Amino acid sequence: MRVSLQLNGETFSGDADGDESLLAMLRRHGHTAVKEGCGVGVCGACGVIVGGSYVSSCLYLAGLADGAEVWTAEGLSRTDPETADALAVAEALQCGACSPGQLVACWAYVHLGPGVPDEETIRHFFAGNLCRCTGYSTIVEAVKARCVAEGSRARGSSA
Ligand code: FES
Ligand code: FES
Repeated sequence: MRVSLQLNGETFSGDADGDESLLAMLRRHGHTAVKEGCGVGVCGACGVIVGGSYVSSCLYLAGLADGAEVWTAEGLSRTDPETADALAVAEALQCGACSPGQLVACWAYVHLGPGVPDEETIRHFFAGNLCRCTGYSTIVEAVKARCVAEGSRARGSSA
């Protein structure tokens, strides 16, 4: 089948098998910023935004994304450089396997909710992003910073 969507703000059209995941289709067409970890929905490496929802692209059928707006870490880094900056400043960027997923999760936490700079809530949210190499403290710090910054911006715009 043919799948056409808006990928990171640009038109994308590619073929996909009926049971192919969005992750597999994107990577097969060269969009390798989306990473494959477990392939079964537990590691968070493949996180993307589809139609305003944060999803695991390894569990999301490519065909279901037809007509949708899809954002990967690559596109979010361009449109919201503050998120990548916050992760970099906190030295929270980890290896190439988990970092794209962490970035998408950070963006989703701040922009789609819960959006509160509360450590327990952040750690709970990031339980779906597995990394064997970190204590998550720097990630929590970065997410808190983004929540505070976005909160200040929202208060400023409603003033
Ligand atoms: Fe999708 Fe692990 S590769 S959650
Ligand atoms: Fe990526 Fe640990 S730094 S899995």
